[in-house]
Amino acid sequence: MPYLDPPSEWRGTSVQVCGLWPFSAGATLPDVGVPLGRHLEGSGTVCADPIYWFLHGLINTPSAFVLGRPGLGKSTLVRRMVTVLAGWGVLPLILSDLKPDYVDLISALDGQVITLGRGVGAINPLDPGPLRGQLDRLPADLRHQADAELRGRRQECLIGLLNLVLGRPLDARETTIVAAALRILDQRPEVPLISDLHQLVRERHPDLRAVALDRGDDARYDELVEDLETGLIALGPAGRFGDIFCQHTSTTMLMDRPVVFDISGVDSSDGAMRAAVQLVCWVYGSSAVTSAKYLAEANLAPERVYLMVMDELWQMLRASSYLVDRIDEITRLNRQRLLAQVLITHTMKDLQLGTADLTAKARGFVERSALLVLGGLSTAEFGDLAAVHEFSVLERRLIASWSTQSDVASGDPPGRGKFLLKTGSGPGIPLHLTLTNVERDVNDTNKRWAGAAAKAHRLAATMPAAGTGDLPADPEDLT
Ligand SMILES: Nc1ncnc2c1ncn2[C@@H]1O[C@H](COP(=O)(O)OP(=O)(O)OP(=O)(O)O)[C@@H](O)[C@H]1O
Ligand SMILES: [Mg+2]
Repeated sequence: MPYLDPPSEWRGTSVQVCGLWPFSAGATLPDVGVPLGRHLEGSGTVCADPIYWFLHGLINTPSAFVLGRPGLGKSTLVRRMVTVLAGWGVLPLILSDLKPDYVDLISALDGQVITLGRGVGAINPLDPGPLRGQLDRLPADLRHQADAELRGRRQECLIGLLNLVLGRPLDARETTIVAAALRILDQRPEVPLISDLHQLVRERHPDLRAVALDRGDDARYDELVEDLETGLIALGPAGRFGDIFCQHTSTTMLMDRPVVFDISGVDSSDGAMRAAVQLVCWVYGSSAVTSAKYLAEANLAPERVYLMVMDELWQMLRASSYLVDRIDEITRLNRQRLLAQVLITHTMKDLQLGTADLTAKARGFVERSALLVLGGLSTAEFGDLAAVHEFSVLERRLIASWSTQSDVASGDPPGRGKFLLKTGSGPGIPLHLTLTNVERDVNDTNKRWAGAAAKAHRLAATMPAAGTGDLPADPEDLT
């Protein structure tokens, strides 16, 4: 025949087209997990998420890492996972929402929005979490393990905050004093505050003197704890963080609903403040999920599956490279206890820190994430990603092509919604996520810009032509 009529192709769900199997072209991909988008080379729908891929043995821990240049749709992809997983009974916990990217979605899912910021809501870094009262019911051995783990997490949190305000890591002695003080406070029935810990240090508690090795000399003790005290004062009401860390947690997190910590009200120019609040929220949420897991193990609470989303990792690493150890500790513990987590950042360059040692630790976040999701990255931003996973020349080219600037005609970045999934050294799976109408309303993180653009259009229509009249009287109208 001189002309070959191409066969028509249709797509449909198994409900709509049941009975039509086998399809002429089947997807070779596992049909497991959240439907994320179409395969870019046309072989069906790509489904993936860290929880269902883990449950089906496709990855060995329920953890994912999402990398890609700003504005290409990382948070949108994770919102898709959150939306579908919530429908399947998983409880999403957005541990820090800086923009906010997730508040509308979590509200639409009838979840809890916890707003934090100066004068808006406080979170106590020493708070053992919402399930504290129930942990007493655990059998002795589990109780012991849970106590040790939760204390460790709180200690990490406090040390991280002190790193931030002091601008240096704590030395071994200071760390031991903090650990000893937390142990003393844990004997008390009430939830401690940072001021209680400071009080212990100031009153030269004998247990603290013992680990400080002050040889019975008051002056020596005072000198040894001087920096620690400076740090604790800086975390109090007189310090740069105001009242956010020195009071009891203002809203208790619910354990049976989707939750988002909305920290978009924290001044965006204060990177240290944002990083500090992010850190405390990550620890608070991870501790809550850990407690729930212990209670479920002892059949004292329902077995629930949570997905923790930790967006904008770069913000913490940029505020202080010393936080890398704290993040490493939180995420390592989460992995060990098989808690599902998604970490999101921009590029591999975010993970390049002051020293080779710190950089290696940050790179470990990617190395240990079972599912790697890559959006557009320029060749320079690729960094040492190749040291973590093998990439073919074609894969590199594809990822770099998604990082090019917006197409002038359509205004859309060519890489928006395009991702490559990688597990191990096998070939990656390229996909394109298309938003559904239902998602669009809760997804537009550029809506503030859209609002501003609409206002500009309205203004332009009422403005006199250039050079023919006065500027608007209200300077607000100019913006
Ligand atoms: N697949 C898509 N289709 C259409 N629009 C999209 C898609 N993905 C994202 N967008 C839109 O692009 C904008 C940026 O998306 P998003 O906030 O998810 O990017 P991001 O990679 O998380 O950015 P950042 O690094 O700044 O956090 C949003 O307005 C979003 O609605
Ligand atoms: Mg984002």
